[in-house]
Amino acid sequence: MWRLRLRRDALLTLLLGATLGLLLYTQREGAAPRMSAPRARGRPARKPTPGPRAFQVLEAGAAPPMYEGDTPVPPTPTGPFDFGRYLRAKDQRRFPLLINQPHKCRGDGALNDRPDLLIAVKSVAADFERRQAVRQTWGAEGRIQGALVRRVFLLGVPRVVGTDVGNAEGLGARTHWRTLLGAESLAYADILLWDFDDTFFNLTLKEIHFLAWASAFCPDARFVFKGDADVFVHMGNLLDFLAPRDPAQDLLAGDVIVQARPIRARDSKYYIPEAVYGLPVYPAYAGGGGFVLSRATLRRLAGACAQVELFPIDDVFLGMCLQRLRLTPEPHPAFRTFGISQPSAAPHLHTFDPCFYRELVVVHGLSAADIWLMWRLLHRPHGPICAHPQPMAAGPFQWNS
Ligand SMILES: *[C@@H]1O[C@H](CO)[C@@H](O)[C@H](O)[C@H]1NC(C)=O
Repeated sequence: MWRLRLRRDALLTLLLGATLGLLLYTQREGAAPRMSAPRARGRPARKPTPGPRAFQVLEAGAAPPMYEGDTPVPPTPTGPFDFGRYLRAKDQRRFPLLINQPHKCRGDGALNDRPDLLIAVKSVAADFERRQAVRQTWGAEGRIQGALVRRVFLLGVPRVVGTDVGNAEGLGARTHWRTLLGAESLAYADILLWDFDDTFFNLTLKEIHFLAWASAFCPDARFVFKGDADVFVHMGNLLDFLAPRDPAQDLLAGDVIVQARPIRARDSKYYIPEAVYGLPVYPAYAGGGGFVLSRATLRRLAGACAQVELFPIDDVFLGMCLQRLRLTPEPHPAFRTFGISQPSAAPHLHTFDPCFYRELVVVHGLSAADIWLMWRLLHRPHGPICAHPQPMAAGPFQWNS
């Protein structure tokens, strides 16, 4: 009898253990960020916008879901970064523009042709599908809510693995990409291509070349939105936010990170040795996934960044330029450039909840298919169908209040 009871007890313990394990496992699954690529350039000690951010804990290796035929992710560094080489080469910071859009902001010269918003999206040559998605969804040009919107994509020359500009194969690959991008530029008139390698650590070059380009070719745009190709931007909310702002005043708003400490772990994508940056914290910066700036700030930044030494992390570099101008970026809780743990505010649903996006301006970490889907859901004929009758507050900020 006691033996039977013992066996029963053991079985019960086993069952309980298994249930607990399963529970813990599902909890862990729920907490893991599915949409977000790890984006933190430093370890943020304090975010200026509190709220339920616990779910944004980034897990190394968490990758965005892949869809069939999905486009490749932006360039990431391969192998250890050669800082010595970077430091030796960093005085070379001017590269020719191979494909320009000189008329992007001029129109036919009439005053009302001046763009209210210029959208600049960092992209890589192979990422055609995401560019298409952006063109046909949130990045569409024309009049949006009365505001004139223009768009450019920012590209460098793809570095083809195993080839060199020196050899015939490398040259062939470069010519091939230039031809393709030339054709794309003819079709859409939105490609800016510079003659530097389009690598992760050259994103800072992209930043300064874009600022110089915009100051030269688009100096009268009232505002500029700059972001990644894997973000979703709620254009209506962004334009609402900008409408009362004066473009002659300084403004740079986004997902602001303050007091971030440089990452000193050698195996991190964002590793920065003390010899390259010796201070314990970075200046405040806006996450590069998406931020807006005013015409006034654009002009001043272009000048300031030209004075700042190149730094391999592009958004931290921009923070350094801002610091030089004694400008602090403005935190905006609806810019979620560090990704959202779930694509939906209603995790029990297996679809996106457009009502969650309804309250945001920028969300990072989307595939081309995600961007399409979210756009369609938000722009149904009678508005989005909400899983929640009340808007779900994603933070302290609410558009409708
Ligand atoms: C940046 O681009 C330049 C010019 O193409 C290239 O020589 C350099 O190696 C690139 N730097 C990095 C860090 O990829």
